[in-house]
Amino acid sequence: MTGTQVGDKPLLLYACTGVDDNQWLAAMRRELPELDIRTLADDPPLEQVGMAFIWKYPAGLLASLPRLCVAFSLGAGVESILRDPDLREDVTVVRMVDPGLAIGMNEFVLMRVLHYHRQMPEHAENQRAHRWAPCVPPLPEDRRVGILGLGELGSRCARTLVNLGFDVAGWARSPRNIDGVTTFAGREQLDAFLARTEILVCLLPLTTATANILDRRAISTLPRGAYLINVARGQHVVDEDLLAALDSGQLRGATLDVFREEPLPSTHPFWSHAKITVVPHVSAITQVKSAARTVAANIRRYLAGQPLQNVVDRKLGY
Ligand code: GLV
Repeated sequence: MTGTQVGDKPLLLYACTGVDDNQWLAAMRRELPELDIRTLADDPPLEQVGMAFIWKYPAGLLASLPRLCVAFSLGAGVESILRDPDLREDVTVVRMVDPGLAIGMNEFVLMRVLHYHRQMPEHAENQRAHRWAPCVPPLPEDRRVGILGLGELGSRCARTLVNLGFDVAGWARSPRNIDGVTTFAGREQLDAFLARTEILVCLLPLTTATANILDRRAISTLPRGAYLINVARGQHVVDEDLLAALDSGQLRGATLDVFREEPLPSTHPFWSHAKITVVPHVSAITQVKSAARTVAANIRRYLAGQPLQNVVDRKLGY
């Protein structure tokens, strides 16, 4: 149940790239002195690995871990792990739920909603033209913000916006109940949700059901002049349809933190589009300090034979 151990301590394989390994290893070892935490560079006995902490790991790695029981993801989005052909059915995948990541997302979404709500793109345009043109934003209660995806991050952003007085709606696969938020559920209510949303925030998990969800049809269901903030995955948005909507005025602006291909290729039209703000996938980063603590608590629960938290539903894909 608890994996295997080499010496007197259970073994955890750390296999992450794109993050500061030294910081992560130091934090994990500090939080979990009862574990033997090894990296691939330590040449660990892979056939003995029962638990792994992974992110953007080398292709084929999972095939070399015959006794893997639990894979802890360093990131919140687990679509690349679930798509790995070497992931066995009996491996439990745990997604990252990190207070630090949630704080970051909350800040970023709030910043961009306020940016659009307070008409900053118009002010920037007026400044470029040396034009003094005061404009009055509506009250937050008259600004309709929509959160696509009401998971851990989406529901937190929704609550923050409600507390500031915005008219907030949310859409999820199945019905949700969040105080002060008008919720819509399922494909049959997607259009009604979009039709009332002036500032749309995409915080969906990437699954076969949500890929390309923001296509021409969905974007044209938004009220004319709406804004998009995509902080989920690039694959949620059909790039050409987004560009066409910005060029036609259907959308007034977009903030994109995530892209189909990352890094965003230097020739991609998003870089130079006047109505697009490009951010290099930094809206919310898993924070070592808070996340290592959360993962450690979950691992300790597992080692004590208690149910793991934040387990991914392999069928739903998140
Ligand atoms: C980042 O995109 C994550 O999935 O945590």
